[in-house]
Amino acid sequence: MKPASALEFEFSGDPLAADIDKIHRGTAIYTAIPEIEALLDRLGWPDQGTRLLDPGAGNGGFLVAALARIDMKKDDVETAVHRIRGYEFHPSAAQSARRAVSDHLLSRGWTIPAADKAAVNIVEIRDFLLSPVPVGQFDIIAANPPYWRLANLPPESAYRFQFETQIPAHAKADLLYAYLNKAVDIVHPDGLIGLVTADRWLLNKGSADLRAKIGERYTVHDIQRLESKSAFYRPKTRRKGSPARVHPVSLVLSPGDSGRRLTAEPFMIEELPEIDGTPLADIATIRLAPWLGPDGIFIVFDKTGLPEERLIPCVEPENLCPQTDTITGFNRWALLTDKAEPEASVLDHLDNQLERMPNRGQREPRWLPPEPFAGKLPLSDDAVLVPRIAKNLRPILLPAGTMPVNHNLVVVAGIPAAQLIEMLKHPLVQRQADVLALRLENGYRSYTATLLRQLIIPREALPENIS
Ligand SMILES: C[S@@+](CC[C@H](N)C(=O)[O-])C[C@H]1O[C@@H](n2cnc3c(N)ncnc32)[C@H](O)[C@@H]1O
Repeated sequence: MKPASALEFEFSGDPLAADIDKIHRGTAIYTAIPEIEALLDRLGWPDQGTRLLDPGAGNGGFLVAALARIDMKKDDVETAVHRIRGYEFHPSAAQSARRAVSDHLLSRGWTIPAADKAAVNIVEIRDFLLSPVPVGQFDIIAANPPYWRLANLPPESAYRFQFETQIPAHAKADLLYAYLNKAVDIVHPDGLIGLVTADRWLLNKGSADLRAKIGERYTVHDIQRLESKSAFYRPKTRRKGSPARVHPVSLVLSPGDSGRRLTAEPFMIEELPEIDGTPLADIATIRLAPWLGPDGIFIVFDKTGLPEERLIPCVEPENLCPQTDTITGFNRWALLTDKAEPEASVLDHLDNQLERMPNRGQREPRWLPPEPFAGKLPLSDDAVLVPRIAKNLRPILLPAGTMPVNHNLVVVAGIPAAQLIEMLKHPLVQRQADVLALRLENGYRSYTATLLRQLIIPREALPENIS
C-alpha cells in the first residue's frame, strides 16, 4: 500500500462546491476500458498527436490508458506531464484520477515522489467550462463529456449563474453542448477530438446551431454506436441507479473536409444507402392519422343510439397484431361530423362528453373534432398504415372504409395497397427507414410521416405503371 502522500487534499471552501458535487453526481458515468482503448486506437494515439487532454477526467480512465501507450523512461515526469493532461473539477474525483495515474506509473517502476509529482501535474483540478483554458495547446482531445442539463440546478445557484453568463447561447442547453463547443474552441487547429457521447446532439433540433458551428471546422470520421450496458459504469460511491447513457456513440471529429459533413441538419449516424429511384412522396400521399381527443368523445366504443352512417371503424396500435401485421378487429368507431349541424343524438352525445376535451382540441362549431377528417378519411380504396413506434417499418393493410386515429399511425395511399406494401418492405427501403428513424427505448424507433416522405423507392421496386 502506498502511504498517504501529496495526493491528499481538503475539499476546498469554494462557494461553487455544492453545485459541483451535484453536477458530478449527475455526470459521473465512466467509460469502460475497452471503449477507451478503441477510441484511442481510432485517434491514432500516441503516433498521432503530441499532447492529449481529457477535459472531464473522472477517475482517470482515459489518462491512464493514454499514458500506458507512451514509451517513457522511469521517472520521466517531464514527458508524462507534457503529453497527458486531465481536467476534473470535483476534488475527490480528481484525487481518484491522481491515484490511478500514480499507481500506473508505480507499476512501471517509477519512484513514489516522481509518480506523485506527475499525477498532481497531469490531473488539474480545473473547471473546463468556467475557467480559462490554454488555447491551441492540445492536439488530441479524448473525452466522455458530462451530459446533464444545467436546468437541473436551481436558477439561483452560483454555478448556474456563471454558466448562464459565460456560455454562448447555442451551447447552453446541456453541459455536453458547452463541452463540445469549448473543445472545438481550444483544440489545436490541426487537432482531433475523440468523443464518447449520447447521440442526441447529433440529431436534436435544439443542437442545430451547435452542429453548424462545429461543422464550420470539423467533419465526422468513423462514428460507431456503442452498447450502453457495457460501455459505461458508475463509480462505486455512486452506484444508485443504472448508467443513464442513452444511445451512446463513439466518434472522431477531424478538421478539414475528409469526413462526413456536420451541419444544422440532423446527422445520420449510419449512412443512407445511395438509391436510384423515386421519392415515395412523389407517388403516394402520406399523412398522419388525425388526433380526435380523449376516448369516448369523437371515438366511441359503444354505437348505441348513434347513426350508423356517421360511425367509421377505426384503428389504433392496439388493434394491430404484431406477429402478422394485420388488424385484429374493430372495437371503436370515429364519429364523422362536418360543419353542418349533426342529428340531435350526435349533439346530445357530444354535449355530454365535450367537457373532457382539452382546450387545444376544442373547435368551432363545437361538433367538429380537434383534427377534422371529413372529406379526407376514410378512403374509398384500400391503403396502408404504418405504426409510428415500432422496431422496424411495418406497412399494414388498411381496408377501404376504415381509418386510423391518433398520431401513432401514418397513412400512405394513392397507389394500390399491395404495391405499396411490397415497396415499403423492400430491403433498401427498410434500411433507409432504420437509418432515418430516431431510436427510442428498448429497440423501438420512431417512423414519422416526415421520415416516410424522405424514403426513396428503388427503381427495381417500382411497379411498371409507375416507373
Ligand atoms: C462522464 S464523466 C467522464 C469521466 C472519464 N473521462 C471517463 O470517461 O471515464 C465526466 C466527468 O467530468 C466532470 N466534469 C463535469 N463538468 C466539468 C467541468 N465543467 N470541468 C471539469 N470537469 C467536469 C465530472 O465531475 C465527471 O467526473
